Amino acid sequence: MVVAVYPGSFDPVTLGHYDIIRRSAKIFDHVIVGVLNNTAKTPLFSLEERVKMLEDAVMDIDNVSVESFEGLLVDFVKQKKTNVVIRGLRALTDFDLEMQMAQSNRIVAPEVDTVFLSTSIEYSYLSSSTVKEYAKYGVDLKGFVPECVISKLIDKLS
Ligand code: PNS
Repeated sequence: MVVAVYPGSFDPVTLGHYDIIRRSAKIFDHVIVGVLNNTAKTPLFSLEERVKMLEDAVMDIDNVSVESFEGLLVDFVKQKKTNVVIRGLRALTDFDLEMQMAQSNRIVAPEVDTVFLSTSIEYSYLSSSTVKEYAKYGVDLKGFVPECVISKLIDKLS
């Protein structure tokens, strides 16, 4: 049974994230979406809200679960008794940072490998930050975030 961890901030989850989760769930036996509790950042949504939105979004995918984590990603991955991390790659601009993270993670935990999935083309320029910016100015968010996230964003920013 191959378990993979898909980590992120998910502030909030976008359809780009959802696409990576759905495709990963077809490749791996089980996917754990790891929501980072980053105490150094002030996210728009609380940890509990981010976890709940993800749980609602992935409700239809049997082999996906959502958990939060604190501290180092590699420690969370080891705690889950696996060695696979999934990350989505959008445009070339993601590459540097993602490569740096994957390499750093392998230095501190050589058994942990990162598998990159290329983001589907329609989501290649989508990010949580863009979504939050659009939400502020009343742009229709259909096509950017899962249905269940739209009302949460409107409530939060109104
Ligand atoms: O959605 P994001 O913000 O791009 O996700 C980044 C994330 C959560 C994968 C990354 O910041 C992370 O793994 N943080 C945990 C702390 C850690 O392990 N840092 C070392 C990696 S260089």
